[in-house]
Amino acid sequence: MGKIIAISNQKGGVGKTTTSVNLSAALGELNKRVLLIDLDPQASTTTSLGINRSMLYSSIMDVFLNQVRIEDSVIHLSDINVDVIPATIELAHLEVKLNQEDREYALHNRLKEISKEYDYILIDCPPSLGLLTLNALYAADSVLIPVQCQFLAIDGLTQLLNTIRIVQKQQKVNNRHLKIEGVLLTMLDRRTKAGWEIVHEIKDYFKDGVFDTIITSNVAAQVAPTYGLPVTTFAPKSPASRLYKSLAKEVVKNNESR
Ligand SMILES: Nc1ncnc2c1ncn2[C@@H]1O[C@H](COP(=O)(O)OP(=O)(O)OP(=O)(O)O)[C@@H](O)[C@H]1O
Ligand SMILES: [Mg+2]
Repeated sequence: MGKIIAISNQKGGVGKTTTSVNLSAALGELNKRVLLIDLDPQASTTTSLGINRSMLYSSIMDVFLNQVRIEDSVIHLSDINVDVIPATIELAHLEVKLNQEDREYALHNRLKEISKEYDYILIDCPPSLGLLTLNALYAADSVLIPVQCQFLAIDGLTQLLNTIRIVQKQQKVNNRHLKIEGVLLTMLDRRTKAGWEIVHEIKDYFKDGVFDTIITSNVAAQVAPTYGLPVTTFAPKSPASRLYKSLAKEVVKNNESR
């Protein structure tokens, strides 16, 4: 069974999508079988990987609504050894379209059919704690929380942690337990004192729950999506590429050493 990791923080612009795309590519380079699910109506993961609407036969929305078999919604990106289930803006209508019975467990139920085909399944969540994120959390084994090294970084983390706790309580029935994969510090400007202060603040709070790898601010990471590529392919020798590879090794070590 593949390890399912939700990449979540309801705060916007903290690096969820950048982490999802580049960690997936870095795991793909390590020859892991990776599925990346775009669960954000903004569809940033989808466009960051150069997938445009005209290439789409179906999207995660069709999977939710049971209009397509999940394996038929997968796009194989053989160049980077990553499989993707894309999103479109229609995903914004999920709340009104999904029927009541398995609302929060819909993704969990659909993923059962293919999770054994993969080593890692990463889910890029939207900046909210609504139905989409709940679906990701109920489907996931763990949550990776990107936190931007900036003023007010901690803001809103309490709500995310509360939501995680609620999911954990509900899950006891199913004998599963959602874990925190780790907090990932992102977009650190190494030159500013303020940035390092956030690093220390987060490390004081989460202790060894913080990844050793800290993603620094890097132009290549910012530009790569406009070329439809992960930074590991766009600028393999850039600091960002090196850092995402180091993050991938940490994730593998944490999950496969036991
Ligand atoms: N290491 C980095 N260095 C420089 N810029 C970065 C880095 N990581 C992300 N960015 C930029 O920061 C912005 C926000 O990143 P990203 O889209 O990954 O955040 P997000 O949490 O997915 O946002 P949203 O909440 O809207 O989904 C983007 O413009 C991205 O290119
Ligand atoms: Mg995003």
